[in-house]
Amino acid sequence: MSQIIAVLDFGSQYTQVIARRLRECHVYSKVYRFDTPASTLKEDGINGIILSGGPSSVFAETAPMPDKELFSLGVPVLGICYGLQLIGFLLGGSVDKSTEREYGRGTLNITGESELFKGIPGEIKVWNSHGDKMTGLPEGFETVARTENSNFAAIENREKRIWGLQFHPEVFHTEQGTDIIRNFINGICGCKGDWTMRGYIDSALERIRKTVGDSKVILGLSGGVDSSVAAALIHEAIGDQLTCVFVDNGLLRKNEVEAVKKLFGDNFQMNLVVSHTADLFLDRLKGVTDPERKRKIIGNTFVDVFEIEVEKIGKVDFLAQGTIYPDIIESVPIGGNPASLIKSHHNVGGLPDRMKLKILEPLDQLFKDEVRLLGEELGLPKDVVWRQPFPGPGLAVRVITDITPERLEILREADAVLMEEMKKADLYYKVWQSFAVFLPLQTVGVMGDERTYDFVIALRIVESIDAMTADWAQLPHELLQKISNRIINEVQGVNRVVLDISSKPPSTIEWE
Ligand code: XMP
Repeated sequence: MSQIIAVLDFGSQYTQVIARRLRECHVYSKVYRFDTPASTLKEDGINGIILSGGPSSVFAETAPMPDKELFSLGVPVLGICYGLQLIGFLLGGSVDKSTEREYGRGTLNITGESELFKGIPGEIKVWNSHGDKMTGLPEGFETVARTENSNFAAIENREKRIWGLQFHPEVFHTEQGTDIIRNFINGICGCKGDWTMRGYIDSALERIRKTVGDSKVILGLSGGVDSSVAAALIHEAIGDQLTCVFVDNGLLRKNEVEAVKKLFGDNFQMNLVVSHTADLFLDRLKGVTDPERKRKIIGNTFVDVFEIEVEKIGKVDFLAQGTIYPDIIESVPIGGNPASLIKSHHNVGGLPDRMKLKILEPLDQLFKDEVRLLGEELGLPKDVVWRQPFPGPGLAVRVITDITPERLEILREADAVLMEEMKKADLYYKVWQSFAVFLPLQTVGVMGDERTYDFVIALRIVESIDAMTADWAQLPHELLQKISNRIINEVQGVNRVVLDISSKPPSTIEWE
């Protein structure tokens, strides 16, 4: 078992960033709920604890509180921001309630000797974002750094091995923040920093083999990154015991079915079942314009089709899913009932319950970029590992009206031109998503001597970090011109191309 640092999540937007930073330093990290009993942390054999920041005030009635016993576990504790205030609040210091948040850059002056600041210059720029403010130290603590606004920007109790930082070392804007984190996990907690992706693969392969035994496993391949990497990993572990089902629902991009067959069937030699059920999907979607109904019909039809395929395979015990770590980290409520906000994590909604299959989720401890690294290690091509997100309901939510084979064909061709040009311009992997949208609008145009009355294609090209917010990408005009010319010239039925220049929020990335 590798060494492990527990990150207790008090609801900060940076909790996952902390966990990622630790893994970048080759130390395995795990996010725990804020109120995880100290006994659980002990059983897990943790080597150190980080208390994350959070949006609450320690004085709020619903403020998330940890099990106080964690300070007596005998492992080092580092509180960040809200974590520092908790240390003050719970261990007898004083904390002042503040009505305003201190937000932005500050200058940290390191005034004491501390293992936490080993190798760090006496003055660095740090990133602050906090409400309450510590005003008096708990017994046994001393100040080791100050900012212009705080005498308690960094505190420590050397004997009890507890540290607190008012600022955020995990954020890029804090100079040498990663070195501070490294001082904590390597120097103070004694982690060796030997966690690697190759090591993860080896233990994952062993875990999969042990869990599955001689049983058969089925996996719904969507063509997306997560299910593709899960397929490659499980296949490496158990070979022919895995069968992948790829549902051709008629809502896929151009050449998608062939590409999946070639990669997983021919290259990887996996048991691959391609279910050609486009007619069924399109039949059930006939006349449907409401986006949520489209999604529901597609989801339900997928389950029906998948079930039939599984029955054909015979006795199957496991359903494998490409669930990744951010899917299963429970969100911490801001002043609410913890249970009410736990994220559901279903990739293939409804399947497990109906089919009584056990679930296998070998990526459930990995962040998205780690999944991509894993995919590369397993030999998946760049085109799969770094592909843009594609919605489960596929092109159905990009035809902004009811779906017909003709409309899908127009969209598919326009989308293929856009993708080709984005790749040629070396921009496909640089933006978050770039896709075409079919608008149910006919407008007038001229082609040669003829008047046309054809459809409009919208281009949606956005930059984003996590899809929560997005900005339209500012592409070179020559490229836009080329894309527009090619779509109008090459795609029959289109005589106008428009560019979507809306940000999210208030718009969304997809049009439906
Ligand atoms: P929106 O349109 O909400 O999209 O800004 C955010 C991200 O989610 C993707 N998306 C979906 N993915 N099923 C999916 O698997 C869906 O129904 C769905 N709707 C949107 C979208 O492509 C973007 O990356």
